[in-house]
Amino acid sequence: MIKKIPICKVEIGMYVYDLNCSWMQHPFAMNQFEITQQDEIEKIKRAGIKEFYIDTEKGINVEADAELGALPPDIPDADQNTSLTNELLRATKVKQEAIRVISTIMEEARLGKLINVGHIEQVVENIVLSALSNKDALLGLMRLRKLDKYTFEHAVSVSILLVAFGESLALSKEELMQVGMGGLLMDIGKSMTPPSIITKPGKLSKDEFAVMRKHVAYSQEILEKMQNASEIVMNIVIEHHERMDGTGYPMGKMGDDISFHGQMAAIVDVYDALTVDRVYCLGISPNAALKKLIVSKEKFNQEFVQKFIHCIGIYPIGSLVALSNGLFAVVIESGKQGLLHPIIRVIFDSTKRQFITPQDINLLEQDEKEMVKIVSAIEPGKWRINPADFMDYARYN
Ligand SMILES: [Fe+2]
Repeated sequence: MIKKIPICKVEIGMYVYDLNCSWMQHPFAMNQFEITQQDEIEKIKRAGIKEFYIDTEKGINVEADAELGALPPDIPDADQNTSLTNELLRATKVKQEAIRVISTIMEEARLGKLINVGHIEQVVENIVLSALSNKDALLGLMRLRKLDKYTFEHAVSVSILLVAFGESLALSKEELMQVGMGGLLMDIGKSMTPPSIITKPGKLSKDEFAVMRKHVAYSQEILEKMQNASEIVMNIVIEHHERMDGTGYPMGKMGDDISFHGQMAAIVDVYDALTVDRVYCLGISPNAALKKLIVSKEKFNQEFVQKFIHCIGIYPIGSLVALSNGLFAVVIESGKQGLLHPIIRVIFDSTKRQFITPQDINLLEQDEKEMVKIVSAIEPGKWRINPADFMDYARYN
């Protein structure tokens, strides 16, 4: 049974079902866990928690006179007037839907090696649950979900990609939380854009596009109502359509006037929008999407693009990669058995700093003794290598 108890009755051996606050407000990695040491009790107290929920089937019970009441899961408030109950029920529905969407997206090939990274799923689940504990965010996400399945799924998927990207850039847990939250909420203003524009198949007219662009200001408005939206979240929301060459919107910011997190979000937003399948048009392949980010070199921070490619582990045709044996290779064909195993052409020895006789390798058909792996994407400009020079020949071997 789930019971609400006052903090003064907390004991080692109890199983925490819900700490009665968002994931961001408590210091634990998980929302549910068994209390096994005094230190954890101190942490709960320091987080300012006065009452919380325990699961008496998974841990020890509380003395009979101390419990504040037994409550069904997901209805965490004793004050139950009809509208509140309805709102909580709707929140539970969005929550379930979001979690279903997270696991579906985590199975998609466009996420490359992230498919195998289960903990990202857990982090994003926590971000979604935390966002939904805020009324304005909840209402916005509920409207988005009703308005357009694609827009809602895009929000969740951008959140997943930003958390993974942030992790590869060694951001702290707190920062990961913020970038994931920014990704989830950056298009929340689309809930105030006319549905006819959001769901219009094909190109928007000039006027329609002007209306669409306003979603950034609407998102900002909604976020400003949420008192605890951090600077990182705000930067992602305000800057995700800005471009390094000043051609973005709404401000037309250039280069490093766009924040670190805003630059990250621009890359992830475009990648996801290009690769996702919509009802009226199929997304392009991850390889083609990454290539577009590389080709638009004046629009996106190329150092970040390379790191993003490395993070999702999909190497587009024409990209330069470093191998585990110190050699560099150009990707010449995407792998038939998965995006993570392309066919590569080894061309350069980075230790000796010299070109070598090209040799093609199918990463899936290697001798076990001489097995090499791709370890990272390399920025060709830094090494004065032009991958295109090595693409046109017939296969070497
Ligand atoms: Fe947007």
